[in-house]
Amino acid sequence: MQVVSDGAIVTGGAQGIGRGIAEELLEQGTSVVLADINEESAENTAMELSDRFEAEAIAIHCDVADQGSVRSMVSGATDHLGEIGILVNNAGAAELARTWEMAEEEWRRTIDVCLNGPFLCTKAVLPHLFDNDGGGIVNVSSLNYVAATDGLAHYSAAKAGVSQFTEVVAAEVGRYGVRVNAVAPGSTRTPMTEENGLLKGDIGEEFLNRTPLGRIGEPEDIAKVVAFLLSDYGRWVTGETICVDGGQHIRGLHSYWDVLDEMGAFDE
Ligand SMILES: NC(=O)c1ccc[n+]([C@@H]2O[C@H](COP(=O)([O-])OP(=O)(O)OC[C@H]3O[C@@H](n4cnc5c(N)ncnc54)[C@H](O)[C@@H]3O)[C@@H](O)[C@H]2O)c1
Repeated sequence: MQVVSDGAIVTGGAQGIGRGIAEELLEQGTSVVLADINEESAENTAMELSDRFEAEAIAIHCDVADQGSVRSMVSGATDHLGEIGILVNNAGAAELARTWEMAEEEWRRTIDVCLNGPFLCTKAVLPHLFDNDGGGIVNVSSLNYVAATDGLAHYSAAKAGVSQFTEVVAAEVGRYGVRVNAVAPGSTRTPMTEENGLLKGDIGEEFLNRTPLGRIGEPEDIAKVVAFLLSDYGRWVTGETICVDGGQHIRGLHSYWDVLDEMGAFDE
């Protein structure tokens, strides 16, 4: 399996799922720009990965919610790598809050990072994919694009938007040789889920019970599907969102209200 380009941008590539995707692409010989708001963490990761792989890993600071920052990241990426043929819109973040208690700022920031970010990055990168005679985009959505988890109205709305955005852009750019798909991970072990406690205690147990394959996902589980979508093996797939969740979506998510409440997830 060979991915479609020698140069890729992975947003939020400093850690978690983004880092897993970067590792998989580097393994395939694709050089990767880790575009992350946390510059120090991205630089440390780039150094570590450059030692392990022959292809290059480069850190470039970027806030995906800011058009100027995205433009200068993409220009830095082309200066470093020359050819850009792949974009992975992975950066995402959200704080749990029930809708009537959610600060407007929190709603807007989540939509900005999780939905406007993929738009700004896609808009800035597409001309390079056209110049490159094609390429691939993968957007990292979430099982929450179809599932309702209490406290994640902003995040679910953004991720549902990402999947529909994926379809429309795929329809627009297919004729230019660009395929656009999304992956929707279920519960995956990353710094985000380690920090918010979603893999521990009753809620972790509940996730496990609802996962037919019987374990929590790892970043590399998501990365393998992203690499497939970006390779020749995925050449007839576009506009698709694939659940990558050990089968969690078959059983569906239930209300985590009580468990989240006990965890103090909604406390101010
Ligand atoms: N971990 C899960 O269980 C899970 C499940 C479904 C979907 N996802 C999605 O996967 C993606 C990665 O999640 P993760 O769990 O690896 O998270 P994470 O918090 O461990 O890593 C996210 C990375 O994105 C960066 N980032 C945050 N805001 C940014 C911004 N404005 N601009 C650029 N970089 C930014 C962070 O600095 C960090 O390096 C997200 O889109 C998330 O919604 C995660």
